[in-house]
Amino acid sequence: MAVRAQVLCVGLMLCGACGPQVDPAPVRPLLPPPELTDTNPDPAIVEVTLIAAEGTHEYLEGKPAQVWGYRDGALAESAVTIPGPTLRAKEGDQILVHFRNELPVATTVHWHGIRLPNGMDGSTSSQRAVEPGESFDYAFTAKDQGSFWFHPHVKGDEQIEKGLYAQLVIEGGTAPEVAADRYFTLDDVKLQSDGALSAKTDAMDLMMGRQGNVLLVNGMKDAELVVSPGTRERWRFVNSANGRFFNLSLKGHRFLVIGWDGGLLPVPYEADTLLVAPGERYDVLVTFDPELPEGLALQNLHYDRGHDLPDPGPKDLFRILRAAPAEDAPAPLPSQWRTLERTATTAATAVRAFRLSEFEAPDGPQFFINDQFWPFNDMVHVTKGDVEIWEIDNQSEMDHPFHLHGMFFDVLDRDGVPEERVGWKDTVNVPRETKLRFAVRYDFPGMWMFHCHILEHAERGMMGDLMVE
Ligand code: C2O
Ligand code: CU
Repeated sequence: MAVRAQVLCVGLMLCGACGPQVDPAPVRPLLPPPELTDTNPDPAIVEVTLIAAEGTHEYLEGKPAQVWGYRDGALAESAVTIPGPTLRAKEGDQILVHFRNELPVATTVHWHGIRLPNGMDGSTSSQRAVEPGESFDYAFTAKDQGSFWFHPHVKGDEQIEKGLYAQLVIEGGTAPEVAADRYFTLDDVKLQSDGALSAKTDAMDLMMGRQGNVLLVNGMKDAELVVSPGTRERWRFVNSANGRFFNLSLKGHRFLVIGWDGGLLPVPYEADTLLVAPGERYDVLVTFDPELPEGLALQNLHYDRGHDLPDPGPKDLFRILRAAPAEDAPAPLPSQWRTLERTATTAATAVRAFRLSEFEAPDGPQFFINDQFWPFNDMVHVTKGDVEIWEIDNQSEMDHPFHLHGMFFDVLDRDGVPEERVGWKDTVNVPRETKLRFAVRYDFPGMWMFHCHILEHAERGMMGDLMVE
């Protein structure tokens, strides 16, 4: 350390304030989760063993919390991690997941955003839950490149909060040249001062979805990321929180958004801030200023999602430390990203109306879709191959991120204002008192779920079933 300080001083003396600014090594390096071991030698098959189990995780250093998490079953000694181990495959691969439930409760694994056979979707409308001690084999083809995630579909508000979630990356398509390709899972937890997860659920948690008192990126609080000034990195984001919205900002920089839930966009766009609602994914490029200032952090800015939640001011998600700057400017960006047609609709396309509402019941809020309350809902019947428009009419006083399983949709407009950007979504934020319309083609038969991805809302009624026949 002393030697390095000396070298820096010499540098400063030689060229004044223009010397490269290099920060000391990180104390809490922001690490990616481990990756699931592929045990199949066939390069076109990814075969893994995934175990859900109890474990511990230090959200606060030196103060382990009891959690539920995933671990790699191919490694006898593996421990659960938060997020769980990443599943990585290439477009076109066969994915085989031998899942074992070592939790004291029943669970499933839902592959959020993946287009797959209905029996593999891992919702309770498509499979019997996997009881403690039982196993289930999930098998599907990685049809689409993109950033996805997986999590249980049984009591999601409790099981995901306790740590059951992990990243799923399907590689493919245009690959911009980048210095690093990173996937950040955004989350928050409500911790007691001893570092344990709070078991208390208050009225606010039920109304807004539980918002924690500690913000996490890949399971870590106050982590540090080392980057080289002047380089370009690819950052993928997923929001795995029960209820918190993340509104990202990196001061002095803009995000070049290249992908949404359903993979790359045909035309990237720039954004100063990036709103990531629960369940959504965004894939962006960030080009660091060659004169990267000291003390920069990726921040979460307040976003007003209704019910007058107070603005706590900007909060750091992780700090950025500077390595030696890049020698060369980043390579030019690809000129072609992806061909993606809009889902064809006409004036004759059938429109299905879904009204979202909330109701203050004596034992807490309840949430409805078309005045129906899951699991006492009638399923919606549609015909395979049809294209229809869904009109989501949010008549409540807060935003609801709306998710549909097993298919992508194409957002058409919000309160009649057309969405100019083309890209595939499986989860979209429907702002309060707003009507959002999307077009969807029912490609795969079976019973698919749709719901608000604020997990307390889903578990308290705002969920439904779509039968494609
Ligand atoms: Cu991310 Cu029905 O779920
Ligand atoms: Cu909701």
